[in-house]
Amino acid sequence: MDSLHQLHERIRTCTACPLYKDAKHAVPGSGSVKAEVFFIGEAPGRFEDLQGEPFVGAAGKFLNVMLASIGLERSDVFITSVLKHRPPKNREPKPSEIKACTPYLTEQLKIIKPKVIVLLGRHAMGFFLPGLTISQVHGKPQYAKGIWSKDQLYLPLYHPAAALYNPNMKKVHLEDFKKIAELLKKK
Ligand code: URA
Repeated sequence: MDSLHQLHERIRTCTACPLYKDAKHAVPGSGSVKAEVFFIGEAPGRFEDLQGEPFVGAAGKFLNVMLASIGLERSDVFITSVLKHRPPKNREPKPSEIKACTPYLTEQLKIIKPKVIVLLGRHAMGFFLPGLTISQVHGKPQYAKGIWSKDQLYLPLYHPAAALYNPNMKKVHLEDFKKIAELLKKK
């Protein structure tokens, strides 16, 4: 099995779907290989594409605030997205792109083996927990078959971008984030 570093090098030169053609950088993900919490967003946006780092735009700044609210820093966790290259104009990921890209996500999870997989938004949730509705299950821990275990712990949350212009959603996010701290204490 590749190391995380080797895997990320492969992602940087990936041509498995056409998205690499318009992208400036691939965004494999960043954080600790020993992370207990593994965050999965949707896809890199403009700033992520420019820098090659996940969640460095406005949604990322709010993610940092939420992490700090439960005493965590980015270097304590691992952050990535379902797609590793930016879709043009931030359009939604296509099923063919998700199919081409998610083997990388699976490999990242096999290397890191986190306690909690936090699914940010419906695309991340749809891949691991198909059939659920984010408005019904956000902030509610779910146990389902994982890549290496029969009962992996998942926590679906709204995508942080949903809170950017909505103060009520910010409150919901901050409340849901407390669940991460509770789950880490329990296990
Ligand atoms: N939104 C995502 O889902 N991922 C990023 O890396 C940035 C914004």
